Amino acid sequence: MRIGVLGTGMVGQALATRLVETGHDVMMGSRTAGNEKAVSWAAQQPERAATGTFADAARHGEVVVNATGGGVSLEVLRSVDTSDLDGKVLVDVANPMVWAGGPLPTLSPDKGDSLAEQIQREFPGARVVKALNTVNAGVMVDPAARVPAPHDLFIAGDDADAKAVVRDLLAGFGWDPALVHDVGGIASAQGLEAYLLFWIVLRTHIGNHDFNIHVAR
Ligand SMILES: NC(=O)c1ccc[n+]([C@@H]2O[C@H](COP(=O)([O-])OP(=O)(O)OC[C@H]3O[C@@H](n4cnc5c(N)ncnc54)[C@H](OP(=O)(O)O)[C@@H]3O)[C@@H](O)[C@H]2O)c1
Repeated sequence: MRIGVLGTGMVGQALATRLVETGHDVMMGSRTAGNEKAVSWAAQQPERAATGTFADAARHGEVVVNATGGGVSLEVLRSVDTSDLDGKVLVDVANPMVWAGGPLPTLSPDKGDSLAEQIQREFPGARVVKALNTVNAGVMVDPAARVPAPHDLFIAGDDADAKAVVRDLLAGFGWDPALVHDVGGIASAQGLEAYLLFWIVLRTHIGNHDFNIHVAR
């Protein structure tokens, strides 16, 4: 499948690398064509790796991944031709956090809204699925090795077919399908984004990034 990964940070790099490893044809997008991190990433891939602007990557992808800073994601998506999002699965990995000097960030938006819902409202043709924002980049793409115990992932979105596509991608990464919970429509992203605050508390408590949670009942 052709996938456009918007983002050159550690998440964009981790996802793009794993997507190439699992047989996909990936373009990494950034603000500028020729971005140093993107070009360096592509040079390390054996095949099926290209770079371009955010707009180029969105055009390339049958699936588009938003791995940009949560505070700039809407701006990034506005730089893309809307027709290059219409009908496509848009996997939103971003966490919309604002650091203002305290021990924890705040979320923006916070009360009664989420970044994923903002994206879905502004780009109604896209089929937005919130996924993977509840774990560190390394855990996203190598769940069994990073956390060698049962642990869970959550997806939210209004389009059942889009969530099925994301489930397949996650299975390719090594996520146990039985432990990928569909927590409902895109409004459930409010909970997934709010979890970030507890994730940060847990990271401080545990002392590293290689952890996740498991739902017991
Ligand atoms: N780090 C993790 O393990 C983790 C885990 C879960 C979720 N997340 C979320 O995943 C997303 C990506 O995280 P990250 O640490 O990989 O990268 P990041 O540093 O948050 O974002 C990097 C991307 O944002 C773009 N960007 C930065 N400022 C911009 C601006 N003013 N206008 C337009 N684009 C701008 C950069 O563009 P250029 O390429 O042009 O520089 C780059 O592609 C974030 O929302 C983060 O909260 C991260």
